[in-house]
Amino acid sequence: MPLHSSNGNGRAGADGRELIATLSGLTKTYYKPDGSVLVEALRGIDLEVQRGEYVAIMGSSGSGKSTLMNLLGALDRPTSGRYVLDGENVAELDDLGLSTIRGRKIGFVFQAFNLIPALTILENVEVPLFYQGIHPHERHRRSKEKLELVGLGDRLNHRPSELSGGQQQRAAIARALVNEPAIIMADEPTGNLDSKTGEAILDVMQNLHERGLTIFLVTHDDKVVSRCERIVRLRDGRLDSDEVLRRTGILRDQLPATRSIEPAAVS
Ligand SMILES: Nc1ncnc2c1ncn2[C@@H]1O[C@H](COP(=O)(O)OP(=O)(O)OP(=O)(O)O)[C@@H](O)[C@H]1O
Ligand SMILES: [Mg+2]
Repeated sequence: MPLHSSNGNGRAGADGRELIATLSGLTKTYYKPDGSVLVEALRGIDLEVQRGEYVAIMGSSGSGKSTLMNLLGALDRPTSGRYVLDGENVAELDDLGLSTIRGRKIGFVFQAFNLIPALTILENVEVPLFYQGIHPHERHRRSKEKLELVGLGDRLNHRPSELSGGQQQRAAIARALVNEPAIIMADEPTGNLDSKTGEAILDVMQNLHERGLTIFLVTHDDKVVSRCERIVRLRDGRLDSDEVLRRTGILRDQLPATRSIEPAAVS
């Protein structure tokens, strides 16, 4: 069963699948206190992402990856342009609207797992539900279910310091899933892990992808990228390239030729 259901608001993309994110002419400018321009971090991004896609975001340091992730994750509003997320125009939302859309649709996974040391991992996963006023019994049930999904059903009462790095990241993924989001935003989720542990985290991400979640993942690592379906590269705040490696349920040779490349050609 998919982890989320569509709200039916999304427009269909070119090949008939539902669009979950549509960016047009999206810019983000950071200003100095005197109102003059400090940095044009994003200079006009056009992008369409279908529900269920697994997208890697790459680019050199300062190219705008985190800025784009902040916009995609509704942590921030663009300076200009349009961003329609699952049928809602994020650019027009106020702060309350942004936090509501984040709570309902988006789960965040960070490089530093950001778990609360004094809480057990079950309690850590319950935190987002606590803020929504969900009954303790229901909080407990849903959090346990997500921890079981990531293979930590036998570690519920451990504190983060009693877990390995990979287990802590799996707990952080369970926390990101507990609100049943449609989208997972992962900024270098394997950055603090050795390669074997990183692979196990990528297996978890693959499992979420197969359950229909849309995933945006920032990485510098070619091994991580090879597990994704599509690579969006940024350069100086612009889209440098957009390559589809494969698409679930669609053979690569059925994709439009301009957007299809051999995985071996990815650098
Ligand atoms: N809050 C901010 N205020 C001012 N400038 C910022 C702010 N955040 C980012 N920038 C600038 O915007 C540009 C893009 O930054 P961003 O953090 O998006 O890059 P990045 O691709 O994530 O880099 P890295 O790989 O180093 O994390 C950079 O020039 C950065 O200095
Ligand atoms: Mg960054």
